[in-house]
Amino acid sequence: MKRIFSPLRLRSWVTAGCSSILASSLLFSAAPASYGQMSGSSYANSATNSAAQQRLLNWWKNAVVYEIYPRSFQDTNGDGIGDLNGITEHLDYLKQLGIDAIWISPMYPSPQVDFGYDISDYEAIDPQYGTMADFDRLIAEANKRHIRIMLDMVMNHSSDKHPWFLESRSSRNNPKRDWYVWKDGKGETATSQGQPPNNWQSAFGHSAWQWDPKTRQYYYHKFYIQQPDFNWNNPEVQQAFDKILNFWMNKGVAGFRFDAITTLFEDPSMTDEKVVLGKDGKPKINAFGDEVVDGKKTDNLPKNHVEIAHIRSVMDTAPDNSFPGKRVMIGETYVPTINDLLKMYGTTQKPEFELPMDTQIGFINKLNVAAFRSKINDAETRLDGNVPLIVFENHDNPRIDARYGDGVHDTDITRVISTILFATRGASLFYYGSEIGMKTTPPTRKEDVRDPVGITGWPKEKGRDGERTPMQWDDSKYAGFSTVKPWLPIPPNKATINVKMEQAEPNSILAWYESLIRLKKTNPALRSGSNVMLDTANTKVLSWLRKGPNGNNVIVATNFTAEPQTVNLSAVSAGVMGTHLTTLLKTPGASDPASITAVALPAFGVYIGTVKE
Ligand code: BGC
Repeated sequence: MKRIFSPLRLRSWVTAGCSSILASSLLFSAAPASYGQMSGSSYANSATNSAAQQRLLNWWKNAVVYEIYPRSFQDTNGDGIGDLNGITEHLDYLKQLGIDAIWISPMYPSPQVDFGYDISDYEAIDPQYGTMADFDRLIAEANKRHIRIMLDMVMNHSSDKHPWFLESRSSRNNPKRDWYVWKDGKGETATSQGQPPNNWQSAFGHSAWQWDPKTRQYYYHKFYIQQPDFNWNNPEVQQAFDKILNFWMNKGVAGFRFDAITTLFEDPSMTDEKVVLGKDGKPKINAFGDEVVDGKKTDNLPKNHVEIAHIRSVMDTAPDNSFPGKRVMIGETYVPTINDLLKMYGTTQKPEFELPMDTQIGFINKLNVAAFRSKINDAETRLDGNVPLIVFENHDNPRIDARYGDGVHDTDITRVISTILFATRGASLFYYGSEIGMKTTPPTRKEDVRDPVGITGWPKEKGRDGERTPMQWDDSKYAGFSTVKPWLPIPPNKATINVKMEQAEPNSILAWYESLIRLKKTNPALRSGSNVMLDTANTKVLSWLRKGPNGNNVIVATNFTAEPQTVNLSAVSAGVMGTHLTTLLKTPGASDPASITAVALPAFGVYIGTVKE
């Protein structure tokens, strides 16, 4: 089943071999700007124009960010659940992979109804994941390896067990009452709760309003019932979060991924959303059996931008006492158009996200050359020169195999997709396990489902367990993830898809990821060159030029079909006159082309080469 998790589409959850891994010209340059060499304060106090300082400030512009779902990465205390020490244990692995930063999905205390996205204390660590000392050690060890740590920040809602909500629901007069969104029902009487205030729906199915019998009002929850939404019109909520952001920044985090950020505000009219009609003129019904509504009153409201700009000002003015370099905001920005994405960067006067996720490219969900060409071109030409953050996978969506694979060439298709991820301009974000080609493994029986979304939506919506299975480190019983039965089952394919095996195999997906990441970091054209689409009428091969500084030009070609293709990648129209290519990276069966006018690609093959006169 194809699904996009997106607060925007809350109502729909749209179901909607190798070769010369590296050519000799691929340079493994020294680690870029070691921020370990410069303390935060020396960074802040010294002049800003040295090249090293500029690299520190700009680290995010060509960054490779790795998302870790901590429950599923590595269990070190034998409870079947991953933990922070498990992340620390694998920092050398991540360093070798070449990443710049880790985004850790929520590890704060939580009743774990939504596996951490229901937070009951924003300034602590859930004992399931470790202690604050473990967290401090993780930051210190990561920094030694020049890896930055970013946290998930969930501001749309808390857990219903958060002391703030417990206070809020304790009485209508409680000072925290207005920290959450409370409203009278329709047609309520002394003996009946009436109906919810309007037809707004939860992303996790059914009404977004929950009746509270004690205070006889409904509270709003865009997500699960146990995730009441904050009232962002109350300035005290903003102040509370300013403090939380500073708490973590003082601990040395490099920034945050802002969860569900497009749903902070609701339309104050509180009127119904429009029901979306199908082709037959009848209301569309989603996997939860609910009528689909258009989300216009609960998602992507203009007021969000005021708050995002405020957060940015807090981030930009935080004391620079522990983290050298710019702190960065990643946004969970499932927005419908490129113009909406552009708005997420804010303006020069009021900047917003440095890196709002570009979900336009990664969630096309079919291997359609024209669609990719057009979306990559949009990112290049319609974002006012801002840095796109390319992303294909995360903990909310089926992995690449389920959205782009054909069941036969999945490994090669993964090479194609990862080439788009790392070889187009911008920052790249990927999800643990992508680098070894982990596959989506959804539960087969309702009784095995752990994600509440799958419990509510079964069997049409099986939930997100399939993309959250434990990291496959080796082929032992529990894949090296744990010594006991893990919280989600280990996929049987651990026998052939695992880190240990792929580390020993030069043609593995893991080797491919490492090579691509090193190219992205070291090749001047791939580091900062612009994207110019080539061969633009071709419907089978997606090709582009990375036009870099000082005549450094690289072409990239990816075959979207199961048949061999030969393409003419002359870039004369882009002002690049070279006629020959020097291979940087290619997939099995791809040959070194005699000329730029005849680049031969095997089925789902990839070729990357430098243009030479
Ligand atoms: C997160 C989900 C989570 C939801 C509610 C999302 O956007 O990525 O995993 O369930 O927010 O916090």
